[in-house]
Amino acid sequence: MNNKKVSNILKSFNSKILKGKIIPASDKSISHRSLIISALAIGESKIKNLLDSDDVYCTISALRILGVKIRKNLKNEWSVIGVGLGGFSQPEEIINCGNSGTLARILLGVVSNNDISVTFTGDKSLNRRPMDRVITPLKKMGAKFISSDQNKLPITIQGNSNLLPIQYENTVSSAQVKTSILLASLNVRGLTEVKEPYTSRDHTEKLLEQFGAKIKFKSTKKRNNIITLEGGNILQRADIYIPADLSSASFAMVAATIIPGSSIELSNVCLNYFRTGIIEVLKKMGAKIKINKKVIQGTNEEVGDIHVEYSDLSGIDVKSLYSPRMIDEYPILAVAAATASGKTILRGLTELKVKESNRFAAIVNGLRSCKVLVEDDGENIIITGTKNNVEGGAIINSNFDHRIAMSFLILGAVSNKPIKVLGCDSISTSYPNFLTQMNELGMDIRSDG
Ligand code: S3P
Repeated sequence: MNNKKVSNILKSFNSKILKGKIIPASDKSISHRSLIISALAIGESKIKNLLDSDDVYCTISALRILGVKIRKNLKNEWSVIGVGLGGFSQPEEIINCGNSGTLARILLGVVSNNDISVTFTGDKSLNRRPMDRVITPLKKMGAKFISSDQNKLPITIQGNSNLLPIQYENTVSSAQVKTSILLASLNVRGLTEVKEPYTSRDHTEKLLEQFGAKIKFKSTKKRNNIITLEGGNILQRADIYIPADLSSASFAMVAATIIPGSSIELSNVCLNYFRTGIIEVLKKMGAKIKINKKVIQGTNEEVGDIHVEYSDLSGIDVKSLYSPRMIDEYPILAVAAATASGKTILRGLTELKVKESNRFAAIVNGLRSCKVLVEDDGENIIITGTKNNVEGGAIINSNFDHRIAMSFLILGAVSNKPIKVLGCDSISTSYPNFLTQMNELGMDIRSDG
């Protein structure tokens, strides 16, 4: 599927005004979930606008290894023939989740209630990431795990069709953990309950409702969120339309905000409340962002067009309660903060250390190498804005982290000297046409070897 490979090394030059309209890449979280939940339903589900990226391709390939029939039809829709709850086949190969923590963590939950044994692995980055956050609750439900390296991949799971329901209180807000438990509980008789301190993205809950699961949740609840699911009920097929990803849209959104004279439109973007922290924070910094034509679409998600204009930004104190609503946007927010006037404090960022790379260190070291003043205390980052006078001229190693690569390419557009970024092939995991779209809007990003 995804044949738009991105070059490994890119260089971003100071750019002129950004103008125009794009539909950013489709939502990655909803794409993974649509495929997986369709696989668990009865009948043929159709998915329109699925994200065409490496991470999503890993999900398709994993489900096929588990015996699910998935194909793309002539209308560019994906068809998934569900095998029903507990219907996976014993795989004959190891499942490689590539770079995707979302896939690995969710799929561990999904296979845990099947009487099969499955070995999961991933790329270098994924094999370093913690899996205990899903192993602990899934063990409580009755699944068994073997890992040679402290709950890190490769991991073999021995599933069990007689799992028990649990009441699980997570200490951090994580949509991946919540989803893993909820999907594990789908064919467990009884009531499973998941609690989280602040509500994380609720795409799973919305999709499960659409597929007919007996689930109770409140999309309006912001603190001490509780979701209950009564297992043992079949899921019915559904048709799904996937809007654009706000996390991907954030790169152009920040670029247009910080490049003088810019004015762009980002169409058809998912505006799920638990993803929109970045818009609220940028507006508090002074960004001119307007949402037009907000409608509720297919999977019960709010979708709209985002209009962004250049504006002078001022630094602010971003409280940690924002982090579940914009966990993936800190690298690009840090770029905005570096160009603002005054100090920006980004609080409560320890989770960033266990993302595709250590994003906490990548932000601090990357900005420092572009001559931006940055302080940190291991949990919070303080950035002193340069008032649109970032020196740049650095070589940034993204360590195969797509969001770090894209963020520093955006910073290159406003830096005095170009920024070179290594490991840009990682961008294919979430946003294969990033380079084309950004250059279409007016940026000047070039291959560099
Ligand atoms: C995701 C949840 C978030 C996010 C990730 C996608 C999801 O991770 O960082 O990119 O689709 O559920 P956590 O659940 O670890 O916060």
